[in-house]
Amino acid sequence: MRVISMFSGAGGLDLGLVQAGNEVVWANDIDKDAVETYRSNISQDILLGDISTIDFDSIPDGDVVVGGFPCQGFSLANMRRSVDDERNLLYKYFLKMLVAKRPRYFIAENVRGILNIGGGTVLEQILSDFQDAGYFVSVNKINMADYGVPQKRIRVVFLGTRKDLGSESVLSIPAKTHSDDPKDKLPGWISIQQALEHFPEPSESGDIPNHVASSYKLSFRNFTGHRPTDPAKPSPTILARGNGKGGVVAIPHYNGKRRLTVRESACVQTFPDDFVFSGKLNSCYRQIGNAVPVAFGRLLGDELIKIEDRK
Ligand SMILES: C[S@@+](CC[C@H](N)C(=O)[O-])C[C@H]1O[C@@H](n2cnc3c(N)ncnc32)[C@H](O)[C@@H]1O
Repeated sequence: MRVISMFSGAGGLDLGLVQAGNEVVWANDIDKDAVETYRSNISQDILLGDISTIDFDSIPDGDVVVGGFPCQGFSLANMRRSVDDERNLLYKYFLKMLVAKRPRYFIAENVRGILNIGGGTVLEQILSDFQDAGYFVSVNKINMADYGVPQKRIRVVFLGTRKDLGSESVLSIPAKTHSDDPKDKLPGWISIQQALEHFPEPSESGDIPNHVASSYKLSFRNFTGHRPTDPAKPSPTILARGNGKGGVVAIPHYNGKRRLTVRESACVQTFPDDFVFSGKLNSCYRQIGNAVPVAFGRLLGDELIKIEDRK
């Protein structure tokens, strides 16, 4: 399918969709480093710029619109503000794209917090906006570990199908591929050690790209980013922010001696080992923490291809 990608970042979701056989016809992000990363690994065809300044008539048509619209705008205060301030609500641009392009499907990923903001009123508003735009919508709370990602990462995925396509063509969430429950008769969750044991220590790494670690000190104080990592379990969630000084907290390595390198964080997010990130250390960590795991993007991409094959 032809994909219009909004808030594309480094392209975790897009790479997965492309790996499945789909084509990205338009992509955009405001972050210079993320756009450079996207250009050197996925496609030159990504527009650098603020979505609020883009002329939607210049965007080609597509079968599916995808995007992890940033969630910072979703405070209750923002929902109630004046029309002027609504420009800050980036999901409105996602909605605008649906209305302008009428794609058959959409995929929107977000943090789980979106379910509870304002006691669920924000979610209700989003769902009614999507429905009014002419789409059936499913809201799926998922754990990426259930899809072969070596990481506990809970996210919300909205899937939309244009109403006129009928119920037999609905885009569905992929079936789980892994489980921690033996009753499911699926392979077990992949542990962080299984995912990372092929990497040497950064000091002996030779020329492995981005195999550099944050020097932010390790201290085990029992809060996010500061807990020992169990080698036998999936990694804790790879973060995009959080050291209190504008930096990103990289997860502690299970060896207890240092934090994960950019390369290792990317591997936990299922980026291939030859995918090279542009920018300074913090920017690389942020691009990775923001991404949809590539392996999950691939499974979503497979669902799109299955729909095409049924036609
Ligand atoms: C959650 S990330 C998306 C990650 C992406 N889906 C992936 O899988 O790699 C959200 C992105 O929105 C971008 N963004 C934020 N404000 C924007 C704006 N006004 N216009 C365009 N992009 C924006 C950020 O730079 C960030 O890369």
